[in-house]
Amino acid sequence: TPRVFSGIQPSGGLTLGNYLGALKRFADAQDRGIETLYCMVDMHAITVWQDPANLTRATRELCAGFIASGVDPEKSILFNQSQVAAHAQLAWVFNCVARMGWMKRMTQWKDKAGKNAENASLGLFAYPALMAADILVYHATHVPVGEDQKQHLELTRDIAIKFNNDFGTDFFPVPEPVIEGAATRVMSLRDGSKKMSKSDPSDMSRINLTDDADTIAKKIRKAKTDPEPLPEGPDGLAERPEARNLVNIYAALTDQTVAEVMAEQGGKPFSEFKPLLADLAVAKLAPISTEMARLMQDTSEIDAILRRGAERANAIAEPILQRTYDIVGMVR
Ligand code: TYM
Repeated sequence: TPRVFSGIQPSGGLTLGNYLGALKRFADAQDRGIETLYCMVDMHAITVWQDPANLTRATRELCAGFIASGVDPEKSILFNQSQVAAHAQLAWVFNCVARMGWMKRMTQWKDKAGKNAENASLGLFAYPALMAADILVYHATHVPVGEDQKQHLELTRDIAIKFNNDFGTDFFPVPEPVIEGAATRVMSLRDGSKKMSKSDPSDMSRINLTDDADTIAKKIRKAKTDPEPLPEGPDGLAERPEARNLVNIYAALTDQTVAEVMAEQGGKPFSEFKPLLADLAVAKLAPISTEMARLMQDTSEIDAILRRGAERANAIAEPILQRTYDIVGMVR
């Protein structure tokens, strides 16, 4: 039976990229009646130093973001990672299965550690083994993510396969990445070659889920584009990253394909297309930011949801961890 798992780091600030690449699709999977687990991965967040008060706030705000985006804590198991000890416990086993060379090839490690790898945390290096544990501790089969997580998911598959080989078992299923739709890689509004990211120094490069209607509209109005009108068909977007990005965003927000959007909008100048996109983005996103703000007024309610989610997650994870220990030969 299919089981969906995915996670988001509570490192402060959710973007339109997180919404279209992850949150919106999480809600869609849940509404198709599949078993879904969604995790605020606080232990991943601390691989780079986090101010403790900010981490607490970001975790609660992320939980509010999940719920405001349509993830229902009754239908989905919604929880934070550190409340389910089996993630860290299985990660240790996987640290002993994964190879240093695999980790060194991760582009995210190379980008984040940069030239000063000697001074990066050991946790940042081992990060993909913890991510593999997040998924495999539930025997999850499907992992919806944005494009940037693809390499980590390939490593997760390698860890599952090597564990099974090393111990002569088929205990861990090899999970499938689910990278689908028009917005698996939302780009910066200022530079069509860069991913939209909460760490970009320019706030104009991204739409935050907490932005108000005026800010959203302004950022879209000022988004970088070339001077040509939209092409007549999808092929004309190939060499035009900024135009393509805005069309992808439009398609994802309306649940259409890029071809469908182009059939409708092709040939329009940006002076017409941008206001349409701005109205659409405001209509879809402003209610999310309002709902997040409302939910954040009662953090005890959020904490209770996370605690309850952790109990449900633990009931699945603990037997899988114990079975793993048996396979490895740990005495209990
Ligand atoms: P994180 O927290 O960086 O991002 C959360 C999700 O948002 C997607 N995303 C985007 N999608 C499209 N366009 C963008 N510009 C964009 N920016 C972010 C990401 O692809 C991701 O799906 N390592 C993960 C968290 C994680 C995880 C897991 C995910 C930990 N354990 C297990 C899946 C399964 C991360 O740092 O995502």
